[in-house]
Amino acid sequence: MRNGKEIKFNSKYPSIEDLRNRAKQRIPRFAFEYLDGGCNEEVNLLKNTSEIRDVELKPKYLNAGPESSLKTELFGHEYDAPFGIAPVGLQGLMWPNASQILAKAAFEHNIPFILSTVTTCSIEKASELTEGRAWFQLYHPSENSVRDDIISRAQAAECPVLVLLCDVPTFGFRPKEIKNGLSMPPKMTVNNILQILGKPRWAFETLMHGQPNFETLKPYMPKNLNLKHLGLFMDKLFSKRMPEEKIAPIRDLWKGKLVLKGVATEEDAERAVKLGLDGIIVSNHGGRQLDAGESTIKPLTRIAEKYGDQITVMMDSGIRSGPDVARTLASGAKFTFMGRSFMYGAAALGRQGGDHTISLLKTQLQQVMHQIGCERTSDFPDYLVDR
Ligand SMILES: Cc1cc2nc3c(=O)[nH]c(=O)nc-3n(C[C@H](O)[C@H](O)[C@H](O)COP(=O)(O)O)c2cc1C
Repeated sequence: MRNGKEIKFNSKYPSIEDLRNRAKQRIPRFAFEYLDGGCNEEVNLLKNTSEIRDVELKPKYLNAGPESSLKTELFGHEYDAPFGIAPVGLQGLMWPNASQILAKAAFEHNIPFILSTVTTCSIEKASELTEGRAWFQLYHPSENSVRDDIISRAQAAECPVLVLLCDVPTFGFRPKEIKNGLSMPPKMTVNNILQILGKPRWAFETLMHGQPNFETLKPYMPKNLNLKHLGLFMDKLFSKRMPEEKIAPIRDLWKGKLVLKGVATEEDAERAVKLGLDGIIVSNHGGRQLDAGESTIKPLTRIAEKYGDQITVMMDSGIRSGPDVARTLASGAKFTFMGRSFMYGAAALGRQGGDHTISLLKTQLQQVMHQIGCERTSDFPDYLVDR
């Protein structure tokens, strides 16, 4: 099926919360908690979803009824909606083939899909499924030879946008993952195995598709690593901090658009502008890294105001509905991304999950536009209630 897919969703699940509840029933607890949880006491996770909802929009009922459209131009491509799928690691652990399901649905609905370095689908496969439209998110390798090789593969796969991640200088402290033994890599404890036995559909699908692997990283991994050595290997493979000295050479190497993800302050936004990047994603990794940090909607407003005309400002973290997308655009973002919302969809509905979730969000956002009288997605700031 080509772009321009029909917008149709399953009326049993008309909200992301419905999908989350179903996902919780269908997948083992360790996988659900990996997806759902945040770091430490989950304060930042909660702020993301609650503070975004403090943003209010004003309807203009006496406007002549405009023909509103979700179409949004970004980096020279006209997408069918102002939202995309954020990079998520280990997707196949949460639902078998989840990366492939979401990549294909994103392509059919003409929205961006970002593939994580550490997920369970290769750059080449994601590119094939999206006819060269998938974006790629790079965890910075410690060795420049590995970095260059991954970048040239992304270039050969025709990825239009490379996303550099800067908000994981250290792994987040996530108590649920620690208890479940679900660090990098997942451990198969007796408890985890018992949880799997309680989720027969997930277990069956996992058997059919085989154990998930880090497909993009396979060429750099020694064969037959046991779980313990795999963890050490992954730790060595990536240099986590992302200072300017690491970004500048990538700007020279990468011919396409370059985006920095994880920006949470005006200072880092300014550096991104000076480094000649094309865009930033204001993000706190969905509340998984710094519990004492701000929710993303707060720095978004400041950053968009100061740098919105110098660099493309996008945002993720905490978006769970069409109205949330509208609130974020009204606060100054040109485009939005979601991580959990789409993964809840894939875990809840399997092969139908991507299509359902995108259709649902498109429908909700379209309703908001009709309701307030907003014609284009770039007009949302005119509908923001000033505080
Ligand atoms: C389970 C999980 C795994 C993630 N893995 C990655 C990753 O590999 N690379 C990355 O750049 N961001 C990763 N993220 C962060 C997302 O890209 C995104 O910033 C976050 O999910 C946005 O918040 P939301 O889930 O509230 O939409 C992950 C998020 C989750 C929930």
